[in-house]
Amino acid sequence: MASLSRTVFFSILLLLSLHQACAKKTHLHFYFHEILSGPNATVKTVVNPSNSTKSTFGDITVVDDMLREGPDDNSTLIGRVQGLVAAVGRDGSLESMHNFVFTKGKYNGSTLAIYGRVVLGVTIERPVIGGTGLFRLAFGYSLAKPVVSSATKLVYEFDVYIWQIIKF
Ligand SMILES: *[C@@H]1O[C@H](CO)[C@@H](O)[C@H](O)[C@H]1NC(C)=O
Ligand SMILES: *[C@@H]1O[C@H](CO)[C@@H](O)[C@H](O)[C@H]1NC(C)=O
Ligand SMILES: *[C@@H]1O[C@H](CO)[C@@H](O)[C@H](O)[C@H]1NC(C)=O
Ligand SMILES: *[C@@H]1O[C@H](CO)[C@@H](O)[C@H](O)[C@H]1NC(C)=O
Repeated sequence: MASLSRTVFFSILLLLSLHQACAKKTHLHFYFHEILSGPNATVKTVVNPSNSTKSTFGDITVVDDMLREGPDDNSTLIGRVQGLVAAVGRDGSLESMHNFVFTKGKYNGSTLAIYGRVVLGVTIERPVIGGTGLFRLAFGYSLAKPVVSSATKLVYEFDVYIWQIIKF
């Protein structure tokens, strides 16, 4: 019995180490830029049940934000973030459904699906739930740290860590 459980234990260990050997890890670093108002606004509130000018419970917003290499407005555009944000928390928390669409370099045409809870003003951690193109079968997490938070724009620094099983 003891030797059987030892065999099972070492088989699991072997499987785990094989899996690690076949997972590719990628770290992406970029900046997220959101323009809150004006002709080039990248957010639009489409449902606003309380007709309030500030974000309140029940609001739904669509976004087409920019991904840039750096925090400056002039920094190279590398992609867009397209999706929905819903104010689902009476505590001010949001639910986000975002596609990160890369438009430059080797990831041009590839996308990452990032989904999860957002509380503005603090580091936001969200799961990466999938991807397309070079990011097929991706899973992982993203961390977003606020860099600029003004009345007209938001800039977040992103670190995204993804793993892809490249061989079963
Ligand atoms: C909006 O974007 C256009 C095109 O990039 C630019 O020419 C214009 O100056 C921008 N307007 C504002 C208010 O930023
Ligand atoms: C919503 O608020 C604006 C002013 O902020 C007002 O002009 C408009 O009539 C309001 N709409 C409704 C449906 O209450
Ligand atoms: C962007 O570029 C313009 C012209 O090259 C320059 O005047 C401006 O200061 C730059 N802005 C930033 C934020 O780097
Ligand atoms: C990205 O891919 C699209 C579609 O294949 C292509 O039209 C575009 O020129 C590419 N952009 C860059 C910056 O490589």
